[in-house]
Amino acid sequence: MTDRPQTQEPDPDPSDISTEEWNFVAPAPDDAFLWTELVRAAIARNHPWRQPVLATTCARRGAQARTVVLREVDTARRTLLLYTDTRSPKVAQLDADPRAQIVCWSPALGWQLRLSVEIGGETEGLDVTSRWALLRHTRAAQDYLSPQAPGSVLPTSGDAAAAPAGAPRGAFAVLRAQVLDMDWLALDPAGHRRAMFDYRGAAPQVRWLVP
Ligand SMILES: Cc1cc2nc3c(=O)[nH]c(=O)nc-3n(C[C@H](O)[C@H](O)[C@H](O)COP(=O)(O)O)c2cc1C
Repeated sequence: MTDRPQTQEPDPDPSDISTEEWNFVAPAPDDAFLWTELVRAAIARNHPWRQPVLATTCARRGAQARTVVLREVDTARRTLLLYTDTRSPKVAQLDADPRAQIVCWSPALGWQLRLSVEIGGETEGLDVTSRWALLRHTRAAQDYLSPQAPGSVLPTSGDAAAAPAGAPRGAFAVLRAQVLDMDWLALDPAGHRRAMFDYRGAAPQVRWLVP
């Protein structure tokens, strides 16, 4: 029979473990890492979150979802900026109901982020003119200068790129999305995690959820 080494601690008596340890709850996650990732996504062209899906509601056709480009993120104000054409159906849908959802998925991170937002459109003011000044000499500006609205039926396929008369910025509009909550789902073979960050109150509320 071998002696136990003298230095070995005796096994703990389960009755010694305090109630606090038994009721251990994972600490609430901090949202800062998610905002950092959103800022990265707006800067890095190849970040999968740079092209999220924006879902709106249409009175006639129900849910409407489409890909957009995440242009800017303001972490202090918790806002995201998108660009669009004022004539696109999503703008009328958001005028009727500004509540929308933005969904981001990154296979590399294994993270889905669903943002509940309220979106307002802007076609005038410094925020619009300053962004148009950066955009106007790029190929992308042509999208907003097309004489026909996105979704218009064309008689044949082909380019139609003349500027609409009298509109200095064509149909360019900035969409500002105020984030109301974020539902984060992290897929992980070791155990999925999900948390909800709610910004509706005076202070952000954070809750772990069943994935
Ligand atoms: C990769 C990609 C990025 C897009 N980015 C935008 C965008 O930033 N803004 C936009 O209005 N439409 C963008 N679109 C086009 C929209 O997905 C959609 O087709 C168009 O805006 C019309 O949408 P609506 O009819 O629902 O208004 C993008 C499409 C793709 C495939």
